[in-house]
Amino acid sequence: MPRQFFVGGNFKMNGNIDSIKSIVSHLNDAKCDPNTEIVIAPPALYLLLAREHLRSGIEVAAQNVFDKPNGAFTGEISVTQLKDSNITWTLLGHSERRVVLQESDAFVAKKTSAAIDGGIGVILCCGETLEQREANKTIEVVTSQLSAVAKEVKDWSKIVVAYEPIWAIGTGKVASAAQAQEVHAAIRKWMGEELGGEAQEKTRIIYGGSVSEKNCGELAKEGDIDGFLVGGASLKPAFVDIINARS
Ligand code: G3P
Repeated sequence: MPRQFFVGGNFKMNGNIDSIKSIVSHLNDAKCDPNTEIVIAPPALYLLLAREHLRSGIEVAAQNVFDKPNGAFTGEISVTQLKDSNITWTLLGHSERRVVLQESDAFVAKKTSAAIDGGIGVILCCGETLEQREANKTIEVVTSQLSAVAKEVKDWSKIVVAYEPIWAIGTGKVASAAQAQEVHAAIRKWMGEELGGEAQEKTRIIYGGSVSEKNCGELAKEGDIDGFLVGGASLKPAFVDIINARS
């Protein structure tokens, strides 16, 4: 059974009411490949706005969620609150949170477990720094990040793994199709060994890091690249071309 192509748009800390409304309107009117699963992740402040105005068939993701159900956790958002708002996905483990906010592998794992247990899908990010790649540690780093989650989560049917080499994020230096495929294949092999055949076959592994309408076609041809997690380009009309990369 082929894995459904999946394209996420991570808006990061960008946008305002008008720009989010304009992106949503463009997506509502666009001719998107019906075989592509589409999820957009606006800043938390605009989740309800996006959900309210987006056509059905396009899902909304938070960019993060806390691991506790409620309580004295100033500034945090719970899985229950996302579900209450009809937000069906969340990103977790993005390198910008691992590096800037020092989120540990264990914390990302706990948050992933809370989201899955609470019925929210998780786009689970992993990736290496340039130094780690140059030291030939890419697979070790990425599988270590994923192993931390495997300790907490046994059911990966609502997890999409996003491989995002840190050196490609926001730099314009996209990984080559061969580079990305090599890591995706290694992740899939790890899944088979650690999670079993079903997870290995069914889990989507998507690529993120300077994806654009110019390079998405080449990347989408690779057997273990099941879609994209798009940053900067998700804020532009050309995001639709990336959604249609397999059309
Ligand atoms: O989560 C996706 C993001 O990290 C990739 O950013 O701008 O390189 O597409 P960008």
